[in-house]
Amino acid sequence: MRAQLVDGHKRNIGDVRISVTDRCNFRCQYCMPAEGLPWLDRDDLLSYEEIARLVALLASMGVHDVRLTGGEPLARRELWRLVEMLSVDENIHDLSLTTNGYLLDRQVEGLVKAGLRRVNVSLDALAPDRFFQLTRRNSLQKVLDGLAAAEKHPELRPIKVNVVALKDFTEDEVVRFAEFARKHPYEVRFIEFMPLDADRTWSRDKVLPNAEVRRLIHAAYPLKDLGRERHGTSRRWEFADGQGSIGFISPVSEPFCGDCNRIRVTAEGNLRTCLFSMTETDLRGPMRAGATDDDLEAIIREAVWAKELKHDVNDEGFVQPLRTMSQIGG
Ligand code: GTP
Ligand code: 5AD
Ligand code: SF4
Repeated sequence: MRAQLVDGHKRNIGDVRISVTDRCNFRCQYCMPAEGLPWLDRDDLLSYEEIARLVALLASMGVHDVRLTGGEPLARRELWRLVEMLSVDENIHDLSLTTNGYLLDRQVEGLVKAGLRRVNVSLDALAPDRFFQLTRRNSLQKVLDGLAAAEKHPELRPIKVNVVALKDFTEDEVVRFAEFARKHPYEVRFIEFMPLDADRTWSRDKVLPNAEVRRLIHAAYPLKDLGRERHGTSRRWEFADGQGSIGFISPVSEPFCGDCNRIRVTAEGNLRTCLFSMTETDLRGPMRAGATDDDLEAIIREAVWAKELKHDVNDEGFVQPLRTMSQIGG
């Protein structure tokens, strides 16, 4: 083992989010334009071997939680192969995936066999026309099928459903989602819209504050506060009658940067120390130029030391990063 990876604010880094592709088969309004984005060339992506090397190195520095993201991670060929490579590492305690669910039905069996332990599925509307309006794809049923397929694997629980909440859109879906959460073994979490959209049309008045979502749910189904777990993104509430729970991820109205223990690696192998970082550190270049693990460790430690204390979305003069959510990995 190597020494624990720490940042300059005395935070132990324990979680890495790896983006395996910048491509996606959906075109969510809050994320990507209808025509898509200029995709990376295949050669620009880290290979599975390169990712596994990097993750093993990070894990030897105490980064024990690994999440695979995208773009849409299941759009990358044979993702199960990467899962299999990572799941044998004893230093990794949690190996999870965040997906739009479209290809989950087909792939979940292979992923579980390969050692996947958790899955989060993005689902922003339960009415088919509203699902289409938001994702520009007619794929609600495929996502629900994906969830149902995941539900058959108890080892994947708790399955989390991510709902990005948009003002003047999500209000009508809120109670339906509460009922969905009460009926299924899924933890539904509402996420405040963050300024990482490709169209750069984010504005504060498009954010539906989670307090408002909670008020709408509470009026129909009373809630009891369970609090936020350390290093977790969501504050959880259970239904007062004991039938299920619901979560709120509130990076805008209630930032949780203080105990952030995360770093990110983009699909082309850049290290990002915050979702809202203005700079990235190239790891692919040194890896392909023959850097040893010790060389890479030094590069990573220096970048992580400078990890941002917090995001500045709520500060005057906030500047939206050039990279979008799909290029960063969420
Ligand atoms: P669990 O560990 O399963 O609770 O997942 P998670 O919430 O950490 O990850 P997920 O991929 O499901 O992301 C849910 C939402 O939280 C997405 O909108 C992410 O962009 C957002 N998110 C994840 N990590 C961070 C973070 O460090 N900062 C901020 N501001 N948002 C984050
Ligand atoms: N704001 C908040 N969440 C977002 N996601 C994608 N774009 C945004 C945004 N601009 C969510 C996706 C997915 C997770 C990785 O990030 O819906 O659940
Ligand atoms: Fe961590 Fe940056 Fe997210 Fe804050 S915004 S929780 S510092 S990654």
